[in-house]
Amino acid sequence: MSMTRVEPVTNKGGAPAFFSAWDLHAYYGESYIVQGVSFDIREGEIMALLGRNGAGKTSTLRAIARTADPVLTHGEIWLDHKPLHSMKSFEAARNGVGLVPEDRRIIPGLTVEENLQLAQISAPVGWTIERIYDHFPRLAERRNQEGITMSGGEQQMLAVARALARDVKLLLLDEPYEGLAPVIVHEIESILREIKSHGLTTIIVEQNAIAALNLADRAIILDMGQVVFDGTAQEVLDDAGLRQEYLAI
Ligand SMILES: Nc1ncnc2c1ncn2[C@@H]1O[C@H](COP(=O)(O)OP(=O)(O)OP(=O)(O)O)[C@@H](O)[C@H]1O
Ligand SMILES: [Mg+2]
Repeated sequence: MSMTRVEPVTNKGGAPAFFSAWDLHAYYGESYIVQGVSFDIREGEIMALLGRNGAGKTSTLRAIARTADPVLTHGEIWLDHKPLHSMKSFEAARNGVGLVPEDRRIIPGLTVEENLQLAQISAPVGWTIERIYDHFPRLAERRNQEGITMSGGEQQMLAVARALARDVKLLLLDEPYEGLAPVIVHEIESILREIKSHGLTTIIVEQNAIAALNLADRAIILDMGQVVFDGTAQEVLDDAGLRQEYLAI
């Protein structure tokens, strides 16, 4: 892995980006999946990471969160001046990366509140449980219910809330709307907008590209493990040809 750089890469404005991924290459065994991905994000921005099935979106999120798979063989990842590329997943989490995986990982046998308390078992702690309940009234109502018995939408809210219970600087959402009814999607969208108003930097991966683009400031499109578009969310909304070619919408 290249470790020559000691400062984060700069964005186009010349200022160090709050988050930057620079020339990421990652493998599952022999399978070369993430093939030179670079992008950066300003603090407080929401970035939609889009692309067809198998484009490498989940793999890119996992590489950023420093999960054991895929293996990052080259590249640099900086978050708020910290080199994530030289960290393991628990260190990346401690340094502010909050990955909400597609399967949500609500812990069986624990209530909603216990799931949140468990997230706060070690420092650095983020939002208090009371503050979380203020933003997620459905979770407040269900605080004593076993987390895995809730609806899919409620479990998604708990998964996001659990990330906020930690001191998260970069929220990584993998398909947060998957399998949810439009009314619940709207409810989660409004929660994410509110979180954004608190300045949280977010990457959202979504098959529901229009919903993600409506929420996001910027968009990256991946195709076969490479960035094929980097621009504003509005540019993608306005470009039917681009959407047709890479998103099939
Ligand atoms: N654990 C793994 N081992 C081997 N190959 C994998 C593994 N996970 C994913 N891949 C492969 O890596 C490629 C990218 O997968 P990835 O899950 O990152 O895509 P994605 O863009 O998230 O797709 P989707 O929209 O279907 O979730 C695919 O070809 C996939 O088959
Ligand atoms: Mg995926």
